[in-house]
Amino acid sequence: MTTNIRINADRLWESLMELAKIGATEKGGVCRLALTDLDRDARDLFVKWCKEAGCTVSVDNMGNIFARRPGRDNSLPPIMTGSHIDTQPTGGKFDGCYGVMAGLEVIRTLNDYNYETGAPVEVVVWTNEEGSRFAPAMVASGVFAGAFDVNYGLSRADVDGKTMGEELKRIGYAGTEECGKRPVGAFFEAHIEQGPILEAENKTIGVVQGVQGIRWYEVTVTGMEAHAGPTPMERRRDALVGTSEMVLAVNRIGMSNLPYACATVGMLQNMPNSRNVIPGRVFFTVDFRHPDAKILEKMGAELKAEVERISKQRRLDTEFKEIWYSPPVKFADECVAAVAQASKDLGYEGRPIISGAGHDAVYLSRVAPTGMVFVPCKDGISHNEIEDAKKEDLAAGCDVLLRAMVDRANAAAAG
Ligand code: GLV
Ligand code: MN
Ligand code: MN
Repeated sequence: MTTNIRINADRLWESLMELAKIGATEKGGVCRLALTDLDRDARDLFVKWCKEAGCTVSVDNMGNIFARRPGRDNSLPPIMTGSHIDTQPTGGKFDGCYGVMAGLEVIRTLNDYNYETGAPVEVVVWTNEEGSRFAPAMVASGVFAGAFDVNYGLSRADVDGKTMGEELKRIGYAGTEECGKRPVGAFFEAHIEQGPILEAENKTIGVVQGVQGIRWYEVTVTGMEAHAGPTPMERRRDALVGTSEMVLAVNRIGMSNLPYACATVGMLQNMPNSRNVIPGRVFFTVDFRHPDAKILEKMGAELKAEVERISKQRRLDTEFKEIWYSPPVKFADECVAAVAQASKDLGYEGRPIISGAGHDAVYLSRVAPTGMVFVPCKDGISHNEIEDAKKEDLAAGCDVLLRAMVDRANAAAAG
């Protein structure tokens, strides 16, 4: 590729800031849960921008949006990039949105330079990556890659019982294309690191080698509701006290599988949640992560044993369910190499890195050679309204993305 092509850093930044206005929070973050009206507004803006950039836009039946820029040989499968624009309830401006806006910026830049790629390029918005409103995470890229059945995807429900299928129809993004039928030549995803390594080592580009494994559990602990005054301590079957011991067990399992294990209880519902009623039922979630599948499995077994032990000791009935397993992933050599080379050509020392967060790229790697580009974020903080990143780092990552994509698009056309 000609060495003088560079993305427009200001345009990328301004698009990110414009998108961040949809669902903006007082603390400077974004709350834009999947398939809400705000998600629809953000989707509409993305589609408008893609059409203005001359792309053809299609939507599949999981609501994934694809914007296509033709290449020289349109019989070739596209080189695809993208991420998600749904956010956590107290999310930031960059998680996911950066990958989508970087993809759009790649297309705008190719337009600026009138550059014709060998294979076509596409930018995608994946539905419900966060898994915050609808569990599990990355569900629509999972359906795309055949990890889940489409009916399973569409039937995922939020806490009010509304399903993804109903909500997609309501916001006008239940597309007609069959999810997963679109060919993909290669997939790249640009993302903020969401951890502290690049910033601490003063590196601009993370060359992502793969993603650690994730296991999600749902636990329902049932005891017995009773009056907080007359019920003697030794007669109680307090679901929240048992849960508290289980939460500590989750943390202990994380701590005893260091340096790589992560263990989190992120969601907890206490019932009936009344100050003078002994809690009768608690629902909570567990998120375990580890790059080694065997250790991750062992962590799950340890938790199950601890949950059983605590339940027995406290005379509680507990339902323990694993609801999601995303195995550790290693990305394709040719895509990792394309990111490393692009970063070198641009004068950055790319640092190999394993992703701690899950990404749609995890599932895409099942159906196409896949790679990711990481850029630093401030203090390594993400899933927080204060999430921040530097304009020049975001631009650097986007330039790397552009080059890696053009490299793969031209290599595909060269046979
Ligand atoms: C997605 O944000 C995840 O890693 O849970
Ligand atoms: Mn993300
Ligand atoms: Mn996220």
